[in-house]
Amino acid sequence: MLFPVYKPGDLYYVILVFELAIYLWIGSQVESMNDTLRFCFCIPTLFGVEGLVSDELRRMNMQDVRTEDGRVFFTGGLGDCARVNLSLRCGERVLMELGSFPAKSFDQLFEGVRALPWENLLPRDAAFPVTGYSLDSALFSVPDCQRIIKKAIVERMKSRYHLEHFPETGAEYKIRFSLRKDLVSVFLDTSGTALHKRGYRPAHTEASLRETLAAAMVKLSRYRGKGDFCDPFCGSGTIAIEAALAALNRAPGLYRSFAAENWAFVDPTIWQNARAEAIAAEYSGEYHIFASDIDPRAVQIARENAVRAGVDHLIDFSVADACSFSRETERGVIVTNPPYGERLLDQQQAEALYRNFGAALSGSRNWSLYLLSSHSEFEHFFGKPADKKRKLYNGMIKCDLFMYFK
Ligand SMILES: C[S@@+](CC[C@H](N)C(=O)[O-])C[C@H]1O[C@@H](n2cnc3c(N)ncnc32)[C@H](O)[C@@H]1O
Repeated sequence: MLFPVYKPGDLYYVILVFELAIYLWIGSQVESMNDTLRFCFCIPTLFGVEGLVSDELRRMNMQDVRTEDGRVFFTGGLGDCARVNLSLRCGERVLMELGSFPAKSFDQLFEGVRALPWENLLPRDAAFPVTGYSLDSALFSVPDCQRIIKKAIVERMKSRYHLEHFPETGAEYKIRFSLRKDLVSVFLDTSGTALHKRGYRPAHTEASLRETLAAAMVKLSRYRGKGDFCDPFCGSGTIAIEAALAALNRAPGLYRSFAAENWAFVDPTIWQNARAEAIAAEYSGEYHIFASDIDPRAVQIARENAVRAGVDHLIDFSVADACSFSRETERGVIVTNPPYGERLLDQQQAEALYRNFGAALSGSRNWSLYLLSSHSEFEHFFGKPADKKRKLYNGMIKCDLFMYFK
């Protein structure tokens, strides 16, 4: 393996191997690499969904999958990078790790970043903004770290391009760094726009769920396209749309673009092949997905989003009060996100809603329910303790996914 997954102590070995690999494979020009070179990739995730993302990666046959709080790593080639960008449902971005080294001073940060072979990755007109974060580290000022990293890259590039000033008018190579316990990791962001932006939801109602969180809820419900699926508080339709995409096995990123598609060192056929593979892997079938909301405007927006996602023919939308929920089918799964009483309704209204929804569901005993709420007393008002709970974050709001499946 040319680019092994490494531990902090392996720093210089990693940098040496990386530099050698780059020089051997592409000489001194920014030219496309083939798909045999191995990289370490990092997927930042919402808290609570790391395990789901690592499952997804293993199902895609990615190697050396390992999780940390809020991120998951794997090893793969540029083809894997394209496949994961296109198909991952629950992760936020795909970052290519360029190096990792300890740094407690700005000098160490500068030298570590300058040691990376930037001139072989970034063309002379590359735009290379730097963003990142620092946790439990001596270097805690993020703006200062950004400035030092940028300066180190410019210094390295000067020796290759003989330029004092870089125009940054070309394709974007977003550089991200993480500083955790004095260990710096430097990444190129291959996704660009975050993966939750599938491209189907320019319009959204107040309090829309992030698409990656909706996909995680669908995954936890184990819905695979069989039987009835309902979201009776559908808002902009995110959960039902993610369920339809999952049922079809449609790569959620199929109809959007990614930063690495514009990179000089990535052969475009890699992306074409990954897209063709994703299309070939789609299923077709008859699905029973229902989405409703009490607000007709929300239903209209949900319909429009489903059209953009290409799944409107798979979802039956209607205006309905969830407190009158009744279905003739004996079994099915409800995955939903009612108001919490924080943003849309006040707390008492939310509590009454949970009580009435609980009463309505009491007639559908064989239906399983996966309901996201931040209300700590949800089970009390709903009238039944959950079989299982799982902590998830909806933006900054700490929630539980209340699961009823027995
Ligand atoms: C938190 S939002 C759902 C957001 C949705 N998951 C999304 O991604 O857009 C809650 C939704 O519940 C709807 N709602 C409130 N009371 C309802 C009721 N009694 N029956 C059905 N829908 C209701 C609201 O109109 C709102 O669209």
